[in-house]
Amino acid sequence: MNNANIRKVLIAGGSGFIGSVLKQQLQKHGFETCIVSRMPRPDSITWDDLNQNGIPDGTDAVINVAGQNVLDPMRRWTPGFKQNVIASRVHTNQMLVKVINQCDSQQKPKVFASISGVGYYRPDAIQIYDENSTGGDHDFLSKLCTDWEKASKVGDDHTRNVTVRSGIVLGKNGGIIQQMYPLFFLGLGAKIDSGTQHMPWIHIEDICNIFIQALRNEKFTGVINAVAPEIVTNEQFTKTFARLLRRPSFLFIPAQIIEFIFSSERAVMMTQGQKVISKRMEELGVQIKYPTIEEALKNILK
Ligand SMILES: NC(=O)c1ccc[n+]([C@@H]2O[C@H](COP(=O)([O-])OP(=O)(O)OC[C@H]3O[C@@H](n4cnc5c(N)ncnc54)[C@H](OP(=O)(O)O)[C@@H]3O)[C@@H](O)[C@H]2O)c1
Repeated sequence: MNNANIRKVLIAGGSGFIGSVLKQQLQKHGFETCIVSRMPRPDSITWDDLNQNGIPDGTDAVINVAGQNVLDPMRRWTPGFKQNVIASRVHTNQMLVKVINQCDSQQKPKVFASISGVGYYRPDAIQIYDENSTGGDHDFLSKLCTDWEKASKVGDDHTRNVTVRSGIVLGKNGGIIQQMYPLFFLGLGAKIDSGTQHMPWIHIEDICNIFIQALRNEKFTGVINAVAPEIVTNEQFTKTFARLLRRPSFLFIPAQIIEFIFSSERAVMMTQGQKVISKRMEELGVQIKYPTIEEALKNILK
């Protein structure tokens, strides 16, 4: 089932935390890469270039990992910012689908893989969600996931669609670890509220590996939850993080403070959680390099 014909990959959002590691990993595996960015950069095209000239010649696969950072504490949760959050996900997918569909059938990329989030599933302390579970309609962020995923559908037999519905991505140079590291380093690491909320997560190398396998293996289709098999709570994550840094972790941040900083609509991502498993990763035989939070954080903090 290896799709060995894929060589050149266009990565929208390839300058970001996930995108830059994905780009490196793809290159290490012998793929040629080109980025779509808002800014002119080396080895990249801008969204305007894409709109005007279409997909670069010879593009075999397209990946979208673009998206305005939802948890930027410096940005207020205004209607304008929310519009940016939507546009950077839904409109980028729509644009990519448009240019994919403009290609002649022989020139069409063979795969379009796009990221989404486990915020699709309604927070719940007990329920276990897999790819067949319903969701995507209970709040702003879950509806965003629905629209984001819907906008990625090419609707054509020539291009295989893959949706990587990801947990929190853990890695050195971005995301939650980069945001929290200074506090934990200073011994101010704190669980959020009761800390009992679940926190679906995945190591950055493992999610990049899922994208790479999605290009190579035609069995990768539809939604794939990208989560590590070990289900942890916010408290377990906090304690492990602090212990590996040899720092205390007896503090907690009340939900009200998180809601004050981020607004209640987006604070949900930290104050509530869901237990998510990946049936599809299991079915597809995806090997996870960092299955436990201990192994993942040890690797990141070393
Ligand atoms: N990190 C996580 O834990 C996680 C978990 C689940 C899902 N995701 C999703 O994965 C995607 C990438 O996450 P990340 O952590 O890598 O984010 P990131 O480091 O902030 O990078 C995202 C990239 O998206 C582009 N971008 C940002 N704002 C944009 C806008 N308004 N319009 C168009 N493009 C914009 C930027 O590229 P240019 O500056 O080059 O244009 C940026 O490099 C996001 O959609 C995020 O929601 C992330």
